Amino acid sequence: MPQSNGQFRILKNLLPKHKRKTPPQLQDEIPFGRTQTDHMLICDYNPQKGGWQTPEIVPYSPFEVTPDAVVFHYGQEVFEGLKAYRKSASDEIFLFRPEQNARRFVNSALRLGMQPVPEDLFLRCVQEIVAVEQDWILPSPASLYIRPTLIGLDTGVSYRASLSYRFFIIVSPAKNYYSRETGISVYIEREHVRAVPGGCGEAKCGGNYAAALPALQRARAAGSEQVLWLDGINRTFVEEVGAMNIMFVYDNVIRTPALTGSILPGVTRSSIIQLARDLRYTVEECRLNISDVLNDIQSGKLTEIFGCGTAAVISPVIELVDGSQRHEVNGAQIGKVSMHLKKSLIDLQFGRGADPHGWRLQVSAQ
Ligand code: PLP
Ligand code: COI
Repeated sequence: MPQSNGQFRILKNLLPKHKRKTPPQLQDEIPFGRTQTDHMLICDYNPQKGGWQTPEIVPYSPFEVTPDAVVFHYGQEVFEGLKAYRKSASDEIFLFRPEQNARRFVNSALRLGMQPVPEDLFLRCVQEIVAVEQDWILPSPASLYIRPTLIGLDTGVSYRASLSYRFFIIVSPAKNYYSRETGISVYIEREHVRAVPGGCGEAKCGGNYAAALPALQRARAAGSEQVLWLDGINRTFVEEVGAMNIMFVYDNVIRTPALTGSILPGVTRSSIIQLARDLRYTVEECRLNISDVLNDIQSGKLTEIFGCGTAAVISPVIELVDGSQRHEVNGAQIGKVSMHLKKSLIDLQFGRGADPHGWRLQVSAQ
């Protein structure tokens, strides 16, 4: 695993207070990811200048990338998603397992032949931009969504891996990911596949999301929020949802697709598996045949379905749409296991109660 050695200086060119925007209030509508804060962090990798350059926190603004840059033509782009949480009415700010995002960011970069951002550099940069933008972190149920991104900058359209890169982080206030708060509808995609073994499914790269857009458009046309992806070979086994991992509740047993190499290994997924076990649920990571899932909904054996991810937290699924057929889950009601696990997860994230696994990282004030 690449690690850099030594300390990092981070340069700050911050806007004077009177030029900064006013962050939203908790009661405001906060469309996910729409408003970026006042600043962003930029850190370039340039082998001719000795590798990683000094990170800088600068006012949020467009930056120049030449039209022939590798990112535009051969898609060398990977990203991460994590959040900063404020313990209500306090100055305590937490990140949740950010080292997992640092590691996944490295793995994603390596899968796309990119220069990975050293984990310690990633963690320091995330903490620093969060500390600068802490006024934007509203208490629960809001948070600050953090989007670290890495792009290939080399110029010239010949096909090869870039040697120079830009790592940047933008942050935006977040509340609910889905506008529907009464549970979401998920559309079973039977035509396209998201990933195949040996492909990029477990990397968090923009290309995966681009190739998934026609299915998302079909889902939206069917009145669903998200796509349920089936495996790329048999088109039979459930993999994940467009922006979340997925879990199926059979009374006290929770089943979720095993990580086969074509599924994004979600930080929320792994946290819920641990939390659910702590709460004495049985968790099985297995292969889930979509026909069995639909039959089990019909028979009532399958009691709840929920998606989980950083942006979406825990989102109960109240309907699966399969072509012209609509399968209501749990009488279209949000289930109690989903709510139980959601409460345990967000209590931990927002600094309420014990942290037995040491998952919280407190961000120190500026
Ligand atoms: N799967 C996909 C395709 C995602 O985009 C996400 C969101 O990041 C997840 C799963 C959940 O991952 P995490 O819990 O790390 O946010
Ligand atoms: C996240 O949950 O962090 C994601 O990256 C999902 C994204 C589609 C918003």
